[in-house]
Amino acid sequence: MKRAAKRGAKVAADPPAIWVAAALPGLEDLLKAEISRRFKGQVVFLTHAKTGECHFRFAGRPKTLLSLRLCHLLYRRRDFAVTRPRTLLSPEHLLTLGRELKAVMRVTSADHYTGLRFDAAGANSPTLQRLGQQLSEQLGVPFENETGDLVVTLRPGKGGWEVLCRVGNRPLGTRAYRQVNYLGSVSGTVAAALVELTTPVRGDRFLNLMCGSGTIMIEALERFAAATMVGVDNSPTALTAAARNCAAAGVRERSLLLRADVRRLPFADGSFDKLCVDLPWGESVGTRQSNVSLYRDTFVESHRLCQADGKLVVYTQDEGAINALGQEVARDWQLLEERRFVQRGFQPLCRVYGKRGEQG
Ligand SMILES: C[S@@+](CC[C@H](N)C(=O)[O-])C[C@H]1O[C@@H](n2cnc3c(N)ncnc32)[C@H](O)[C@@H]1O
Repeated sequence: MKRAAKRGAKVAADPPAIWVAAALPGLEDLLKAEISRRFKGQVVFLTHAKTGECHFRFAGRPKTLLSLRLCHLLYRRRDFAVTRPRTLLSPEHLLTLGRELKAVMRVTSADHYTGLRFDAAGANSPTLQRLGQQLSEQLGVPFENETGDLVVTLRPGKGGWEVLCRVGNRPLGTRAYRQVNYLGSVSGTVAAALVELTTPVRGDRFLNLMCGSGTIMIEALERFAAATMVGVDNSPTALTAAARNCAAAGVRERSLLLRADVRRLPFADGSFDKLCVDLPWGESVGTRQSNVSLYRDTFVESHRLCQADGKLVVYTQDEGAINALGQEVARDWQLLEERRFVQRGFQPLCRVYGKRGEQG
């Protein structure tokens, strides 16, 4: 009788875990669009007061989330209906927390952790010191509250406290392919955003002017099947860095690197569908005066190389140099979108242009 009742009883399955993907400020909408596109049918977005973060329940394999290109930081979230962190020291909550952390550590199973660290107001309070010690024993990871790379964020949430365990021993936005730290290179997530803003479609012929160490090309090749992927730079140091990074990313054979001045390129008119340029700026990679002239020539040559309804995405910190061109740019290019991303304390400008035809 008892067994029959058991057989008939429905066991409520736990809901899928909650994940939090944090974007660089200014890229939140693109990150949410990437999650929707990549994980259709497996994701339910949750509302949350914190800006810059996408909260969602995810029914798929957690490891697949590691392939998000626009996500700067990824966490697994667990909510605790407690009024203060001290209650988390109860055996029941400690076990749950330990399980959460183990689940997170399994996502990047190859990662080695130097220590557990809290990212919270009062991270050094006696309560969090005790919590850290207890969790450290459960996990076999030392408690290193200053330098640890297994990061746990504690913060007040809707019905109590939420605990966010970071996935991986470094931000998800860090790219393993970066073999060379090239001066002025963009981060992988910013490069992925620039690629996204070109509205990439399979078969696009893509040109990355002033490709530097190749970050944009690599992100583009990770994103879609381009018919052609060309990177141009006039610096041999840049091209060596780009070749090494492309090789590390496994895309060297699908990319063409060319040493040339972007003001005069050896391609026929209309050779490319999408063009993207991270322009030099600042004293280390150009001056205002030289930038205005270089930017002007880059817009002109890009217009020649772009096919009739192609797009050009431009990224620069030297907004003044672009503004100085004013109508010269507007004559050839229609401004479709403008936005700023915060990166390493800077707020460069990003503009998306559509090519105007002969008649404008
Ligand atoms: C801001 S960096 C690009 C960094 C790149 N996005 C990366 O992630 O490494 C600008 C690049 O423009 C290149 N450059 C400057 N003037 C150029 C020109 N006239 N023709 C071709 N490349 C040029 C520089 O060598 C430099 O690599």
